[in-house]
Amino acid sequence: MSGNIIVKNAAQVVTCSGFKAKQGKEMSDLGVIENGAVIIEDGIIKAVGPSHDVLAHFDTNGFTVVDAANKAVLPGFVDSHTHFVFGGYRADEFSWRLGGESYMDIMNRGGGIANTVRATRKTSKDELARLGLKRLDSMLSFGVTTVEGKSGYGLDHDTEIKQLEVMKRLDGVHPVDIVPTFLGAHAVPPEFRGKADDFIDLVIRMLPGIVEGQLAEFCDVFCEKNVFSVAQSRRLFLKAKALGLKLKIHADEMVQLGGSELAAEVGAVSADHLLQASDQGIKDMAGTGVVATLLPVTAFSLKEDYARARYMIDQGCAVALATDLNPGSCFSESIPLVFALACLYMNLTPEEALTALTINGAAALDRAQTLGSIDKGKLGDLVILEFPSYRFIPYHVGVNTVETVVKKGEIVFTKNGSKARSQHH
Ligand code: NIG
Ligand code: FE
Repeated sequence: MSGNIIVKNAAQVVTCSGFKAKQGKEMSDLGVIENGAVIIEDGIIKAVGPSHDVLAHFDTNGFTVVDAANKAVLPGFVDSHTHFVFGGYRADEFSWRLGGESYMDIMNRGGGIANTVRATRKTSKDELARLGLKRLDSMLSFGVTTVEGKSGYGLDHDTEIKQLEVMKRLDGVHPVDIVPTFLGAHAVPPEFRGKADDFIDLVIRMLPGIVEGQLAEFCDVFCEKNVFSVAQSRRLFLKAKALGLKLKIHADEMVQLGGSELAAEVGAVSADHLLQASDQGIKDMAGTGVVATLLPVTAFSLKEDYARARYMIDQGCAVALATDLNPGSCFSESIPLVFALACLYMNLTPEEALTALTINGAAALDRAQTLGSIDKGKLGDLVILEFPSYRFIPYHVGVNTVETVVKKGEIVFTKNGSKARSQHH
């Protein structure tokens, strides 16, 4: 899939220009071009600049031309943390939490992740793919052009592989690009209760097959009190890294355990959640360039305090934002909700929030060289808003402002009608 398209006369083209994570103050630099144009050829960005410069002497033959007058053009969003392939739902647990039970209490008595594991083990590959496709369509409608997806609802060899294979299949048939992560160490399954170290051994034994089958780019772990310790996480990470996998970590979410420090120590690409991250952990992440991936809708859904985003940016961290779409702690793929909560409750500026969802999201997937900004040579992934400025995203609170999505130079979503759902290429 790749096309030729010119988007011209945009009220603003917000380039988010850059080829690596933006840290601290750099997160405010968006690179806004007024009356801008973007040319994408064979799916790759060929030129970006003021419309009259870019289009002068350019032969538009063979290009789809989109007039974006009064509209803002942005890089496609990168949702760098989701668990979108799963079976079953947990609406009952959500109600129990509204009644006062905690997420960890429900998990400790056999609900939570284990509940979804039971359902996912029973769900066929075709059914998981069908559900995944629907969720990808929804994410695309919010302007997401690249998404990370995790396994972790199998917790046995066959089901973990099944989830990863479903993602590989979906990547081939859906316009949204999928970056797969192996999260075998998501929870201790019932059959290993009290034997977390033995389970880590099993997860380590799954690694070579996953690497050989090219089923994952990242290895992730839920490093949390009563789940996996820092020592167990480190043990898994060292093996995964030696086999060539990149690292991500669910760190310091409920309890300050030292996951962010571990992320810096092992050279993780990102550390995620971080509600309880320590000052030292934040300093370590800023110093080593670990992307701090924050998931405001999860904190919102769990009624927890938000991560200290402002402090992290002021300390020089690169912050990314993501949805965390999953059936338990955060059943939402809403980019507008992420954006609004980040601005209203975590005190990010709209500029920082946009950076966090584009170039820094790409950096959280080690893809900042090839996507996440409107720069020559990058993938032709664009979002066109129905309003003239990115500032409408948090302002039109909780509402989708995306009008058109371009993936590799092809229009794959428009608000009022045609969309290129589940194309078979
Ligand atoms: O990122 N924190 C752990 N993992 C997921 C939740 C998974 C679930 O509840 O099913 C998260 O929030
Ligand atoms: Fe998660």
